[in-house]
Amino acid sequence: MFALSSVDLLDAFTRELRLCKLRSGEHVVVLAEPDSRGDYVAAAFGAAKACGAHVIAATVPGGTPAPMPSTHTGAGPGLTSVLNDTAAQDLLKSADLVVDLTREGFIHAPVQQEILRAGTRILFVCDAPEVLIRNLPGEEDKAAVLAGVELLRRSSVMRVRSAAGTDLTVQLAGSQPEFQCGFADDPGRWDHWPSTMVLCWPELSDGQIVLAPGDILLPFKEYVREPVTLQIAGGHIEKVTGGADAALLTTFFEDSGDIWARSLSHLGWGMMRTADWFATAMYGKEELMGMDARAFAGNFLWSTGPHPVLGRESYAHLDIAMRGCSVAVDGTEVVVDGRLTGDPRPDGR
Ligand SMILES: [Fe+2]
Repeated sequence: MFALSSVDLLDAFTRELRLCKLRSGEHVVVLAEPDSRGDYVAAAFGAAKACGAHVIAATVPGGTPAPMPSTHTGAGPGLTSVLNDTAAQDLLKSADLVVDLTREGFIHAPVQQEILRAGTRILFVCDAPEVLIRNLPGEEDKAAVLAGVELLRRSSVMRVRSAAGTDLTVQLAGSQPEFQCGFADDPGRWDHWPSTMVLCWPELSDGQIVLAPGDILLPFKEYVREPVTLQIAGGHIEKVTGGADAALLTTFFEDSGDIWARSLSHLGWGMMRTADWFATAMYGKEELMGMDARAFAGNFLWSTGPHPVLGRESYAHLDIAMRGCSVAVDGTEVVVDGRLTGDPRPDGR
């Protein structure tokens, strides 16, 4: 049934596909699984038509190889039905743009890299409608994150500190800096709507990370209640101390049975100024991927588990979003006390 909310979604998807530089005559595949949102499939389909593109909506069976429920966790192992089906892969490779509306995406699946190498651009979408619309990116976001990538590329060390006690030194050599800007406009580009962030894949980090109350643990989509101290040596978590949240993390690492569970993965900082830290509290876990937390402007986002640069395959992927940190890259401050440098402080100073 046509609903007024569909108008807003169609408008947002159309603006988003234009940001992806979708041109008349290009080929779009809207990829879905049975549990994907039907209104998103319709909106992406309609938006592609509005741009004058050819469009196919493809629904494939659900189910992933990850040993956890497929509920927007960010682990991104891909759908088994696509991983095992060369016809599905060929369809995706033949597209100019894939709008990936599956519940987990293919973020950490090697097959996604194959599809991208064919020149296909992929846009992954799975947060709630208001989250998408509030965080609709702008073209200027790409220049902002690229400046962060360039800074990381020409630098040697990232230092992260916080009043809570975080003091982490990150070696940037070989860390392959990347960005997400919320739209996929270059051939072979994957991106995620919504997102605006700078990240890298370092091997070596040393020091300690202290999670403060109010920081967010993903994919659990829970706020930290008591401080947690994580001792880091050589890019691995050596020790976790604190209260209930520390016990939860320790249990997660042990239960995973994964040799990379305690190893650091990507880390960086968020630049999405429209993000809402309280979205995690206001939505059901099934409704969100949690990009408001992951890309929140001025956060420090770090993670554990998979590390494609070092060839570490792992489903034990935690993303942890922290407020109140200061991030300096070879002495250049990019985030101070949880705010992007250049952004006004709440007291106006
Ligand atoms: Fe992640």
